[in-house]
Amino acid sequence: MTAPFPSAVDQALAAAVRAPSPHNTQPWRFVVAGPRIEVWLDRSRVLTVADPAAREARLSCGAAVYNLALVLRDNGLGAQVRVLAKPAEPDLLAVIRIDGGAGRARPDRQLAEAVFRRHTNRRPLSAQPVSETCRARLRSAALAEGGVLEFLDGSSRYARVTALARQAEAVQAADERFRAESARWTGRPPESPDGVPTVAFGPPAGVPAVVPLRSSHQNPAIPTRQFEQDPCLAVVLTREHGVAADVRAGLVLQRVLLTATADGLATSCVSQPFETPGTRGPLLELFREIGEPHTLVRVGHGLPVRMTARRPVAEVTIVQSASDTSPR
Ligand SMILES: Cc1cc2nc3c(=O)[nH]c(=O)nc-3n(C[C@H](O)[C@H](O)[C@H](O)COP(=O)(O)O)c2cc1C
Repeated sequence: MTAPFPSAVDQALAAAVRAPSPHNTQPWRFVVAGPRIEVWLDRSRVLTVADPAAREARLSCGAAVYNLALVLRDNGLGAQVRVLAKPAEPDLLAVIRIDGGAGRARPDRQLAEAVFRRHTNRRPLSAQPVSETCRARLRSAALAEGGVLEFLDGSSRYARVTALARQAEAVQAADERFRAESARWTGRPPESPDGVPTVAFGPPAGVPAVVPLRSSHQNPAIPTRQFEQDPCLAVVLTREHGVAADVRAGLVLQRVLLTATADGLATSCVSQPFETPGTRGPLLELFREIGEPHTLVRVGHGLPVRMTARRPVAEVTIVQSASDTSPR
């Protein structure tokens, strides 16, 4: 690494690739150019059936941006994030400018520590409720990144959203193109550097789940289990719409997920209703007065499960020499 602050940059990139992404596709590339780190969308890794507009891919890159900046700051550096810094380059999703030497306060220690522990939990969660204190912390986490986290239980939207999730799952399970795409990315061996390994799957539901696990994320070889009949669900929203809002939503999502991890909570994303046209429209309409909903998060108490692997940082990073670095 030839950038300034090499060890902090290395750590930040290692953190960036720990971000979540649909089917662990890791749709990002990084360019380190002096004190700048660029985060690019890797179009070759966008799920063209489930995510044709690359919305979820941008969200994933936003989560990677959050991890990058968090770990730089945790090393005492300044990290200024500009989303969609160059309108002529719509796949350049963010530029992080590193400034200052070491010695600043490290405000987010617990979150930085959570980066390497956070994982998706597709197993049933316990009946222990998510406390109001934890909910307040998760809401504040979203607000701190310019987003909104709305818990759905106890609201009139809960039944509607969960019904849309079931409807979308049924549509996708019957769609051959969707099934083929999911099959390409799932059921991998545990050490696979991308995709979802079978060890990260959940069990088949004994009683139909209120929010169904994707059929491509179920392991039929393990015994059926009963999932929560009243799962705690929250929706990640931004007040704005458009591609910059997708990236911003990724930062919001990641801060929420890391806050949950730091609080000992298990999480999983529920994306099916965002992915089929027949459910996406009604879902957007339901939240129109708040903003744009980006993803649903199931939150609760559960046992830790296996972490999934990532491609090495070197495979997704280009380090430009100082002479290649032009002001952009
Ligand atoms: C935008 C987005 C959508 C996702 N949608 C789902 C989903 O619908 N179901 C699911 O089980 N996991 C979903 N995930 C989680 C990914 O599958 C998971 O992040 C990836 O496999 C890596 O595993 P990890 O989160 O344990 O590190 C989503 C993640 C992101 C960022």
